[in-house]
Amino acid sequence: MMQIVKLIAETRSIISEHKANGKRVGFVPTMGALHDGHLSLVEQSKKENDITVVSIFVNPTQFNNPNDLKTYPRILDKDLELLSKFQPDIVFIPEVEEVYPEPDTRVFDFGDLDKVMEGKNRPGHFNGVAQVVSKLFNYITPDNAYFGQKDFQQVAVIKQMTKDLKLDINIVPCPIVRELDGLAMSSRNMLLSEVERKNAVKISETLFKACNLVPDFGVSQLKEWVISEINNNAYLEVEYFEIVDDTSLKSIEKWEDSNNRIACITVQVGKVRLIDNISL
Ligand code: PAJ
Repeated sequence: MMQIVKLIAETRSIISEHKANGKRVGFVPTMGALHDGHLSLVEQSKKENDITVVSIFVNPTQFNNPNDLKTYPRILDKDLELLSKFQPDIVFIPEVEEVYPEPDTRVFDFGDLDKVMEGKNRPGHFNGVAQVVSKLFNYITPDNAYFGQKDFQQVAVIKQMTKDLKLDINIVPCPIVRELDGLAMSSRNMLLSEVERKNAVKISETLFKACNLVPDFGVSQLKEWVISEINNNAYLEVEYFEIVDDTSLKSIEKWEDSNNRIACITVQVGKVRLIDNISL
C-alpha cells in the first residue's frame, strides 16, 4: 500500500520501524510534475530495495529565478495517480514551513564542481539543492538514493556532498529517459508551446549527431558546430555548451584530455530553460 505522509516526524517513525525490521530503504527525491524519467528512478529503487520512498517538494532555495519558482508546474493529484501505478511504499510531501522553519544559511563547498555550467549560470542553485537533499537524507536515512543523469552536474554535486558529510548513502546515477523523438523528458517540457516543443527536438538531435563527429572534428570545432546548428533554429538559443571530463567536470581542449567525456548543453526555448547531455 502506498502511504502518503506530510509530516517529517511521521515519516521518520515509519522508516525507523522498517529499518528496525532490517528493511533496505531506497529514496527518490523529486519536485513533482512527474514523468517517465522520474518513474524510471522509482522502478529502479523498487528493484533494489525493500522499501521505496518518493518525495515531492518544490524546493524554493534552489530557484535562483523567482519567476521559474512561480511557474514551476505543480500537479500533485496527477502525480499521485501516476505514482499509484508504481506503488512506492511512501510518498513524502512536506510543507515548506516544516522543511525551512527558519532560513537555511548553510553554505556548501563543492570545490570546482559548481564553478562551471549550471553552477556558474544559476548562482546558488546547487547550494539550495544540497540544502534540501541533505535535509531529506537526514529525515529518510536511505541506503540508496536515485538521481537521473539528465542533471549530470547535480549527481556530481550530491556525490561530493555525501562524501563531505560522511553519509552512509549510496548515490545511484540512472540513465536519461527520452521522449520518442529524443527530447530529454523534463517537467519543464509541459511549459513549451506546441511549436516550441516541435523545435526543441533539435537539441537532442544535434547532440546525437555530434557523437558521430568525434574524433573527425576537434573539440572547439565541434563546440562551434553544435552551437551554430542549434542557434540557427529561431526558437532556440544556446546558453552554454561544454565538453567536460565526467568526473572533474573540467572543460577539455583536446579529445585525449579525458577518456570519459560528456557534452552538456543548456538551451533557452522561449521562456523555458532546458538541459541535456550526452557521453561522447
Ligand atoms: P526534479 O527535476 O523533479 O528531478 C527529480 C529526479 O528525476 C532528478 O534526479 C532528475 O535528474 C531525475 N530526472 C528528471 N528528468 C529525467 C529524465 N529525463 N531521465 C532520467 N531522470 C530524470 O532534480 C530535482 O528534481 C531536484 O533538484 C531535487 C534533487 C529533487 C532536489 O530538490
